[in-house]
Amino acid sequence: MQVPLLDLKAQYATIKSDVLKQINEVLDSQICIGGPKVAELEQKVAQYSDCKFAVGVSSGTDAILGCLMSMGIGVGDEVITTPFTFFATAGCISRVCAKPVFVDIDPKTYNINPALIEKAITKKTKAIMPVHLYGQMADMDAIMAIAKKHNLAVIEDAAQSIGSVYKGKKAGSIGDFGCFSFFPSKNLGGIGDGGMVVCNDEKLAAKMKLMRDHGQNPTYYYNFVGGNFRLDPIQAAALLVKLPHLESWSAARRKNAEYYNKKFAGSKVGVPFVSPDCITVYNQYVIRIANRDAVLKSLREKGVGCAIYYPLPLHIQECFKYLGYKQGDFPQSEKAAGEVLALPIYPELTDEMKNYVVQSVLEATK
Ligand SMILES: Cc1ncc(COP(=O)(O)O)c(C=O)c1O
Repeated sequence: MQVPLLDLKAQYATIKSDVLKQINEVLDSQICIGGPKVAELEQKVAQYSDCKFAVGVSSGTDAILGCLMSMGIGVGDEVITTPFTFFATAGCISRVCAKPVFVDIDPKTYNINPALIEKAITKKTKAIMPVHLYGQMADMDAIMAIAKKHNLAVIEDAAQSIGSVYKGKKAGSIGDFGCFSFFPSKNLGGIGDGGMVVCNDEKLAAKMKLMRDHGQNPTYYYNFVGGNFRLDPIQAAALLVKLPHLESWSAARRKNAEYYNKKFAGSKVGVPFVSPDCITVYNQYVIRIANRDAVLKSLREKGVGCAIYYPLPLHIQECFKYLGYKQGDFPQSEKAAGEVLALPIYPELTDEMKNYVVQSVLEATK
């Protein structure tokens, strides 16, 4: 049996005619940039995320980049984040010529450990960028308290966590900005690249809106330097079809996770920890095992899709050598990188498929 890590065709089959209809509307209108589909998606994502404003952008990466630029973060500034995340989190900090300052993770949640943040704050620190990894939000009360005390901005990298909840609050709604990715593998995935920034501050939202369009206002007049970070209406059209399904898709992921958790109970497989403060959306279901690489090999041989998010923490990546970190600086991130393994969790998995995944994992970890 083959169980892929993700099967986008299975999801597409359930919504194909609606997606084609929406895309045809864009094509017939020939409004190829911006327009009503983008505006409608922005309004609906803002509402879904309990935020006042939303700005559609070209990717999750550009969401983060645009937020940093909108806040004027740049040369000489420091931004605190986690080394156990996708590259873009720290890549964007570096691209605006600010310095990523890493803080280790809580080994249970894989999210930034707030107890370690204050030690990393200097006079140059301008912002904290927590990442809500795998679908579960970071400990935002603790992070916001530190940010308030030190007068720092907070940008939530919620690329993997749209719809996730922390103490009743939606991902993206707590910090100054929240960033979503519509990369196709995300819970709300487009048919190409896309992203969105959410916030509750009218001025920040207005700046971000200009930032995604070269900082232009009015046309061909530029008050500051922005970029082309616009969301395509074709993406918005597809996402408008998917958004109403998002809650049930994320619930189905949680149900699949419960199924796995039960079957793995009492085995050597470490199942994901879900904080009592959180409702996770399981963009990834990540197990933890000591002999991870052997298990990965065995699963791939058996036709079970799996992946490592992420195999090398950012502080020891070649591109960040200039920051001066070394192996051993963030032991929890380094340990997690050697032990985590993501299993298929997408909503359309059948019982037979889940059983096959469980059996294959248990055999490999005996
Ligand atoms: C944590 C995190 N941040 C940022 C991004 C960047 O999003 P995108 O791929 O849409 O640029 C991703 C997407 O993979 C992500 O997982």
